[in-house]
Amino acid sequence: METGFEGRVVLVTGAASGIGRATAEAFGARGARVACTDIRTDQLAETVGAIEKSGGEAMAMALDVADSAAATAAVERCAEQWGGLHILANVAGVLKLDHAHQLSDEDWNRVLGINLGGTFFMSRAAIPHLLEHAGCIVNVASLAGLKGQAYGAAYCASKAGVVALTRVMAVEYAARGLRVNCVCPGGVDTPLISGFTPPDDFDPELVNRLSLVPKMTAPAEVAESIVYLASPAAGSINGVALPIDFGTHAS
Ligand SMILES: NC(=O)c1ccc[n+]([C@@H]2O[C@H](COP(=O)([O-])OP(=O)(O)OC[C@H]3O[C@@H](n4cnc5c(N)ncnc54)[C@H](O)[C@@H]3O)[C@@H](O)[C@H]2O)c1
Repeated sequence: METGFEGRVVLVTGAASGIGRATAEAFGARGARVACTDIRTDQLAETVGAIEKSGGEAMAMALDVADSAAATAAVERCAEQWGGLHILANVAGVLKLDHAHQLSDEDWNRVLGINLGGTFFMSRAAIPHLLEHAGCIVNVASLAGLKGQAYGAAYCASKAGVVALTRVMAVEYAARGLRVNCVCPGGVDTPLISGFTPPDDFDPELVNRLSLVPKMTAPAEVAESIVYLASPAAGSINGVALPIDFGTHAS
């Protein structure tokens, strides 16, 4: 059965772990050619290996998305190697929780630089290629980009920025056939969520407000939503910020 992704060229950031890895594998399993990029090269080989094992085609590229020149170089290399770029999935991200009044300049700049800057740098480099193929961008924002998450000043600001950037690009390029959407997951079972440390004196009540139902989403479920938004079946969907959160945003 045709998947609609045969031969499509997809670039995924953050592909070494969690949602990015699941996304790269989901596109690969549907016959896409997947450029798997991440700052952590050791684990990238596992993603590429999994795609190749399922019969797909993939390449690994080391990439710090916060480095604008490196972002451009990665897009160009991918487009050159495979003759274009059809889909960009901006997944790479970092989380830092702290009291707003204690957050360091370094943490603020790092979180904004990777989550928002990286999404912008990758999109800016990819758009000329995507416009040639009526392609699309799917960004991974967060429920934290739609609601206030205590201790998440930098993270929430970066993800709200990703939601805004998604909408801006969706409107700006709609008439030229480029679609831009984002997903806004709540808690997803990945190293990002299991490894975070809240401030010592955090108020659990405030943290719990971000989940209506005490459940985590699997990375593969988020990947399926990303694949759907990038698919021909979603051809009329543009500029959405899709919560994947058991109803928390609706509450
Ligand atoms: N896990 C959750 O609960 C959750 C919820 C909402 C949104 N998100 C978002 O999902 C995305 C993926 O996170 P995850 O949960 O899979 O976490 P993860 O830690 O498993 O994966 C994040 C990946 O991004 C990579 N990365 C970090 N900095 C980078 C950089 N500068 N350049 C390139 N790659 C870099 C990491 O090496 C890692 O492989 C992030 O944008 C995160 O904010 C996660």
